[in-house]
Amino acid sequence: MCQEAIRKKGGRNEPPGKGWQMGEKAAAIYAGSGAVLYHGDFLRIAGSMENESVDMVFTDPPFELTGGGMKKGKLLYEGGEVFQNCGFSTKEINFKDWLPEVYRILKKERFFYVMSNDRNLFPLHDACIASGFKFCELLVMDKKMTVPSTYYPKRAEFILMYRKGRFRRAHFSGSTVIETRIPRGKEKRHPTEKPVPMIEHLVRCSTLENEICLDPFMGSCPAGEACIKNGRGFIGVEKERRWFEISQDRIKSLEV
Ligand SMILES: C[S@@+](CC[C@H](N)C(=O)[O-])C[C@H]1O[C@@H](n2cnc3c(N)ncnc32)[C@H](O)[C@@H]1O
Repeated sequence: MCQEAIRKKGGRNEPPGKGWQMGEKAAAIYAGSGAVLYHGDFLRIAGSMENESVDMVFTDPPFELTGGGMKKGKLLYEGGEVFQNCGFSTKEINFKDWLPEVYRILKKERFFYVMSNDRNLFPLHDACIASGFKFCELLVMDKKMTVPSTYYPKRAEFILMYRKGRFRRAHFSGSTVIETRIPRGKEKRHPTEKPVPMIEHLVRCSTLENEICLDPFMGSCPAGEACIKNGRGFIGVEKERRWFEISQDRIKSLEV
């Protein structure tokens, strides 16, 4: 449904109009600049998305924080601000619940990128394989800064790359290590915000202009910004109002 809306309107600066039906499952949407943003639970909203209708999926999913960051179920943030546990719990949504939906919605011979820390890498990989994905590559996001750890100071996060179905050549460049700078200080909108340039690189490697990328857990929507800056359509879902509104503002600020 939403994919059709982006396509019909040429993907740029047009909200979905005639032909757009707001399903009861979609509590709220915002559409503009080639992006459609849903405020709600991905598991509910996924039901209104057609089989094999998006060209790429990038996501940084909710998972249990292991060590650091959490205090009495709350997420500590910079400057002493404390967030409620905004969905970062495997108790609320399990890999095995949402991965089959992502598999269903992604087109054949297309790529799925999912971010992980070291602790969730193995269960996440097992769940991806169980959902039907074929493993392609393990990419490393080199943050070029370390955070303290029990063992070695941590400098990397990981991007698991999978395909659905057969291999198809894309436009790969660079290497399996992506050096990047994570948003910090005042530029940071979300406690686990990912850098736009890194996502732009993945989007350019894996899609063509006007193709559509889905992020089922968009947070503050860096993937949406990456897509719009590169002429791709974007569909994002976020459960928490606070991040949904930040995402909406981010997309609005890109409107020309
Ligand atoms: C790891 S964060 C993503 C952060 C994002 N990559 C960014 O750079 O801002 C995961 C997000 O998933 C959201 N979330 C958790 N459960 C969800 C669900 N069932 N449906 C949609 N969003 C959900 C959380 O509120 C959180 O913002």
